[in-house]
Amino acid sequence: MSSRAPARPVGTVTRGTTNPNRLRRMDRWIAATHGAELRRAADPLAVDLGYGAAPWTAVELLLRLRSVAPRARVVGVEIEPARVAAAEPYAREGLDFRHGGFEIPVPRRPHLVRAANVLRQYDEDEVAAVWRRLCARLAPADPVTGSRGGLLVEGTCDEIGRRHVWVALGPEGPRTVTFATRLGSLERPSDLAERLPKALIHRNVPGEPVHAFLRDFDRAWAAAAPYASYGARQRWIRTVRELTADWPVTDGPARWRQGEVTVRWGALAPRG
Ligand SMILES: C[S@@+](CC[C@H](N)C(=O)[O-])C[C@H]1O[C@@H](n2cnc3c(N)ncnc32)[C@H](O)[C@@H]1O
Repeated sequence: MSSRAPARPVGTVTRGTTNPNRLRRMDRWIAATHGAELRRAADPLAVDLGYGAAPWTAVELLLRLRSVAPRARVVGVEIEPARVAAAEPYAREGLDFRHGGFEIPVPRRPHLVRAANVLRQYDEDEVAAVWRRLCARLAPADPVTGSRGGLLVEGTCDEIGRRHVWVALGPEGPRTVTFATRLGSLERPSDLAERLPKALIHRNVPGEPVHAFLRDFDRAWAAAAPYASYGARQRWIRTVRELTADWPVTDGPARWRQGEVTVRWGALAPRG
């Protein structure tokens, strides 16, 4: 354990549920959207914060990041000491494990912090402070190189990773919200509502932007029903294209084809 770690890590031990390949959609999105930042760093450092009872997601994150940034390193950070001990045999070149919490006990400011299925077990009113704390740990933006700085990816998914929603934040704060799903199993876009991250899940009520967004998403999905005969992918692409008329969608068809859509955070942020 790093000598920088405080005696008591910041946070609370929660359930350790995880699964192999559960976070593949999130890993791939990170590789696609943040790969260039990781490549440009001399010594790119990523943290899998709260990897759970087994270290699979940290091992997979290393492999997927290395496919786009061969110098990337991953540190798995867990607040439950027995889970750190259980992970040790999986340490390898580029991957190690530390006991710690939201203070993130690594010696440098990381280029990526991924916290999947961690904050869902905290209270909604704790989220803003945790986000601020984690964002302050990210590698800073650098106007000279054009770097936007490190990225925090915080979100939730189901047991086997078919439905995901995550928020991406930079050193300056929240940037985007991404919805990602296995299209074959989707009845309607609002099926994703149960996987909203903690900052949004209690806001899926009339009068809140995220509720209006999911309502519009379902309407556009219904209107795109004729495209279903070309497959769920074509229907999703058509649906998202329709959504772009009213919502600030930040990505394009290459990501939509994966069953994703990313929207500017400001459009979905809770009111008040
Ligand atoms: C449900 S598991 C998620 C495992 C994995 N990230 C996944 O998505 O499959 C949540 C883990 O986060 C850990 N955790 C909770 N708060 C934490 C904190 N402040 N710092 C580090 N780990 C934390 C818990 O101990 C638990 O093992």
